[in-house]
Amino acid sequence: MLKNTLIEAIHAGAGEVTRFFNQKFTISNKEGLNNLVTEADHASEKAIFAVIKKQFPDHYILSEEAGEIIQDSNYKWIIDPIDGTINFAHGIPLNCISIGIEKDGEMIMGAVFNPHLKEMFFAERGKGATLNDQPIHVSEGNSAMTACLCTGFPYTYLDMPNGPLEVFERFIRKGVPVRRLGSAAIDLCWVAAGRFDGFYEHKLEAWDSAAGYLIVEEAGGKVTDFAGNKYSPYQHRILATNGRIHDEMLAFINNTPS
Ligand code: IPD
Ligand code: CA
Ligand code: CA
Repeated sequence: MLKNTLIEAIHAGAGEVTRFFNQKFTISNKEGLNNLVTEADHASEKAIFAVIKKQFPDHYILSEEAGEIIQDSNYKWIIDPIDGTINFAHGIPLNCISIGIEKDGEMIMGAVFNPHLKEMFFAERGKGATLNDQPIHVSEGNSAMTACLCTGFPYTYLDMPNGPLEVFERFIRKGVPVRRLGSAAIDLCWVAAGRFDGFYEHKLEAWDSAAGYLIVEEAGGKVTDFAGNKYSPYQHRILATNGRIHDEMLAFINNTPS
């Protein structure tokens, strides 16, 4: 029931995303010049809410545009109605809908759907991760220096020590390829699928990573903060890897070579 509703909700959001993609839509700015929200973000969110509220009217919801709908429930839906809004606004087909479900504070299920590539990533805790219903696994590479990595950049706070620019420069100067897709949820799913060996980012919000981090873990990967602690989507820093290059990447990010 929970899974069916999750998949139905994500398809409802995707219907709105594809309806507006490459068409006319209104755009407004949130804080910061390029922090956009479009008509499609709101339409996707509304369509997702309608599905969840029909089946589970008493569940708690945390969603990027609408904020928190606080209810006394064991279940919490964490929603990004479009992750990769800038890509979406520029007609770049690397954007998705991301929904994670927590029960009693633990992420138990998540799905990320890129409607343009028709890729549905799904995971349920303890049951593995899938891409379009086929099992997926993280990569097997053993060295960060020969890895294909991915990152993302916040709109502000770029220059602190060991910040986004410093860490990026450190990897690039070593000749390590670091991609930047522009959708953290897709970045995480691509680690889960073995396309990237590792992904790190300094300033994510809960809705960016809620589903994707569970999908990486269920694909056999490792996800922590930058101190190597168990990951929580309620803090900003994330390192998600195939597990084998995790410690090496942590040392690189923190500039503490072993
Ligand atoms: C953004 C994307 C991007 C990440 C930003 C997020 P949005 O989400 O995930 O990859 O670098 O930090 O805010 O705004 O497109 O939902
Ligand atoms: Ca996002
Ligand atoms: Ca978003």
